Amino acid sequence: MSISSAFRLEPHEAPVAAAERAKRLIDPGFGRVFTDHMAVIRYSDAEGWHDAHIGPRGALPIDPASSVLHYAQEIFEGLKAYRQADGGTALFRPHANARRFRDSARRLAMPELPEALFVESIERLVAADRDWIPEGEEGALYLRPFMFASEVFLGVKPAAEYLYMVIASSVGAYWKGGARPISVWVSRDFTRAAPGGTGAAKCGGNYAASLIAQKEAIGQGCDQVVFLDAAERRWVEELGGMNLFFVHADGSLVTPPLTGTILPGITRDSLLTLARAEGMAVREEPYAIDAWRADAVSGALTEAFACGTAAVVTAIGTVAGADGRFTVGDGGIGPVTQRLHRALAAIQRGQAPDPHGWVHPL
Ligand code: COI
Repeated sequence: MSISSAFRLEPHEAPVAAAERAKRLIDPGFGRVFTDHMAVIRYSDAEGWHDAHIGPRGALPIDPASSVLHYAQEIFEGLKAYRQADGGTALFRPHANARRFRDSARRLAMPELPEALFVESIERLVAADRDWIPEGEEGALYLRPFMFASEVFLGVKPAAEYLYMVIASSVGAYWKGGARPISVWVSRDFTRAAPGGTGAAKCGGNYAASLIAQKEAIGQGCDQVVFLDAAERRWVEELGGMNLFFVHADGSLVTPPLTGTILPGITRDSLLTLARAEGMAVREEPYAIDAWRADAVSGALTEAFACGTAAVVTAIGTVAGADGRFTVGDGGIGPVTQRLHRALAAIQRGQAPDPHGWVHPL
């Protein structure tokens, strides 16, 4: 199907009025304010990708025997549209999200949405809902493409029908209280992903499995959980929904390698590229939880930060666990964290040149 020409715009009877929209855009936080429209594409083994459209955002009628409700065949993505310094709007690296979405689909035995169609669905949704991008330093339109098994069938097998959708959310700061160093709790009882599992795929199941550990972290007074590897319970992997970086006193930057159990973050990849371009010594290598503590205590480690599309770059101030608690650096937002964060945000918002071709103007 030549889907491009078939993407249709359905009329919206009752979009949110401008005054109400303006009210909702004041301090939207993360993931609670949604726009007027959504993108939809259907898939069936019989018809392939079809029925591509932008329509009014609304509730879905879903059969209780839909396969996703039972066997969790679901994947998603996260990316943002930003207001640009020149007054335009741009996406950040949407093709990278499209590729990862295909990788996730393959791992979950789902059909692979063509890259061009993924990007077009987002372009068209942002074109319809551009007015929902909040003003302000951290304001953006967070796009959430996702796909789930919609076949009505209880047999355990890859479904023959799927629904791909994109919704959009007006967002500001991810963390309540704005940019601040967070505290993390090292989970010893739970792991996020095992070798051979789905750790590198962006599937809802990974997040569902992380919630008990995240709940424990909150119960311990921390913001986020840190997962260790499943095999040895020794190597630091990632947070519940963010990759991790470590800054050493010798100026080097370290992040755990992509061995199949870690999500290949697009923010992670962008920061690695920016740091290398700055001339920093960058290593993708395993980092043990015991080394994190020892290096923080000795001063060999000066900063640690988490990163992701939603949370951007977030300093880690304190680390707590069954063995006690330690502070990273002075517990604040360190200079390297700040510099990399600013460099990335400036490119995303069209305030700095884009030497890597990441910005996708609309
Ligand atoms: C993102 O950063 O876009 C994510 O998908 C993380 C999510 C848990 C908010």
